[in-house]
Amino acid sequence: TDRYAVIGNPIHQSKSPLIHGMYAQATGQDIDYTTIEGPPGGFAGAVDAFRAAGGRGLNITAPFKLDAFAYATERSERAQLAGAANAMKFDGERVLAENFDGVGLVRDVVHNLNTPLKGKRVLLLGAGGAARGALLPFLEQQPAELVIANRSLDKALELARIGAASGAGVVRGCAYQDLAGQTFDVVFNATSASLRAELPPVPASVFAPGCLAYELAYGKGLTPFLRLAQNAGVRQLADGVGMLAEQAAEAFEWWRGVRPDTRAVIEKLTIPLV
Ligand code: ATR
Repeated sequence: TDRYAVIGNPIHQSKSPLIHGMYAQATGQDIDYTTIEGPPGGFAGAVDAFRAAGGRGLNITAPFKLDAFAYATERSERAQLAGAANAMKFDGERVLAENFDGVGLVRDVVHNLNTPLKGKRVLLLGAGGAARGALLPFLEQQPAELVIANRSLDKALELARIGAASGAGVVRGCAYQDLAGQTFDVVFNATSASLRAELPPVPASVFAPGCLAYELAYGKGLTPFLRLAQNAGVRQLADGVGMLAEQAAEAFEWWRGVRPDTRAVIEKLTIPLV
């Protein structure tokens, strides 16, 4: 039995053991997946101990994604772009770091929600870790335009600069008030505002007819952002349950070489948006 775990602090709320347990059962993989509450400032020690005990891989959640990135000996391109890791694989002395949050998000939007991003006008709210992870996966889909809006304008401009440097399409950073008069086909809330039941100052006019409003946070119900969209007439509302399931599937495939179907997990974890 190969050992895996998710490390974070707090960790009791994590759905990862449930998700990976379901994937293991569905694919017939013999794994043991547990949780580790990493002590503040003690990430490296906790991971060392897990590896010494035979651990093969970890998922990483808040507040350790930057620590995991630093701990690794090899980092994938998307982990480098995000500057953070949400999955690690251990191979002797080698520690490989990955970041599947962005690809998981895109997979959910394109495959599960049947919303191709190619040729679409896409708005990304926020320029923190979550937005950073989504940047390249979005641009790979070749949207007509990707606009990044953030409270601190400099962070939005910096992210847009990184996106433009990758040569993968039209990307622009702006402040929230600059969004007046513009509409988008897909709007993602990648700010952490929802975690405190706050609303990023996005104008209600940004939602184009037929728009998808996507909240990256999971399990917060109808957040102020989703409520704003709903009140503006948006009928396609989503939270991050599919993103959660898809990034886990990516990690599972990376570790085990077999890709699990995500449908049953999404069904089980979906909380109605009311
Ligand atoms: P995460 O890893 O969740 O992305 P983060 O890196 O701390 O967390 O980034 C938080 C993001 O949410 C930032 O873009 C932040 O905006 P600033 O860069 O201007 O601080 C954004 N954010 C948090 N609370 C917000 C609020 N009430 N309104 C608008 N943006 C908010």
